[in-house]
Amino acid sequence: MQVDLLAGTSHRTAVMPERRPTLLLFDSGLGGLTVLSEVVRCRPDADIVYVADDAAFPYGRLSEAALVERVLAVMERLVARFHPDLVVIACNTASTLVLPALRARFPIPFVGTVPAVKPAAERTRSGLVSVLATPGTVARDYTRGLIESYAGGCEVTLVGATGLAGLAEAALKGEAIDDGAVLAEIAPCFVEREGRRTDVVTLACTHYPLLLARLRRLAPWSVDWIDPAPAIARRVAALLGPARERPDAGEARAVFTAGTRLSGPARIALAGFGLAQVEIEAMPA
Ligand code: DGL
Repeated sequence: MQVDLLAGTSHRTAVMPERRPTLLLFDSGLGGLTVLSEVVRCRPDADIVYVADDAAFPYGRLSEAALVERVLAVMERLVARFHPDLVVIACNTASTLVLPALRARFPIPFVGTVPAVKPAAERTRSGLVSVLATPGTVARDYTRGLIESYAGGCEVTLVGATGLAGLAEAALKGEAIDDGAVLAEIAPCFVEREGRRTDVVTLACTHYPLLLARLRRLAPWSVDWIDPAPAIARRVAALLGPARERPDAGEARAVFTAGTRLSGPARIALAGFGLAQVEIEAMPA
């Protein structure tokens, strides 16, 4: 299967508006915050709508048909309400499946987040690379196509973590999480073969960089963890064009489709990402 690297991004270019651009960042939950930070670093002047489809979290357990239907339905509502100039699907589980349907449905540029297989293959010295993702992303034809196209010379271990996104959310909300549970999820990434060891692990779920310090601490040996967020932000900036000189800072708000798990510490964490304004756009799963 031939995969175009740009398939993870959009071929449409955004028309640079005179007004501040509105960017919609979309994830199943709080993982897209790792992308948000990088996007704001590149375009502090953009108005940001961060959307967590928490009513349907986690996406990793949904069937492909259910996920396509869900994301299209939620996006329909969001586009009608916020009229974004560009949408970032800050979720690998959705991007590896739904981008073609989104691009066919909406005349807006969509930037996706897909497993950073090519950079991992370029960086490895041992030839042993692991992709840590949700079970959904691991099962995708798209992910296997990336590996065939860009990592032919490597041995790639696909690790589908069932609970790691949930653990990342819990940690961000200030809940105590068990190191043993995190280690059990990442352990299959660490492979030893004929004196060689895995030396690159690509974080193919936007939730996982939230746990990066803990992943480094718990890793059986030191590896290069790849977080694709800076590359995604550069792509967004390239599509939007340069910011105006001395722009006003953009406004940011968070929108949740359920909002039922929004404890006080969760709101404090959101405020730390510049999202003090939180709204509910109810969309039951
Ligand atoms: N943050 C999402 C991703 O990048 C997935 C988490 C979930 O399973 O909903 O894949």
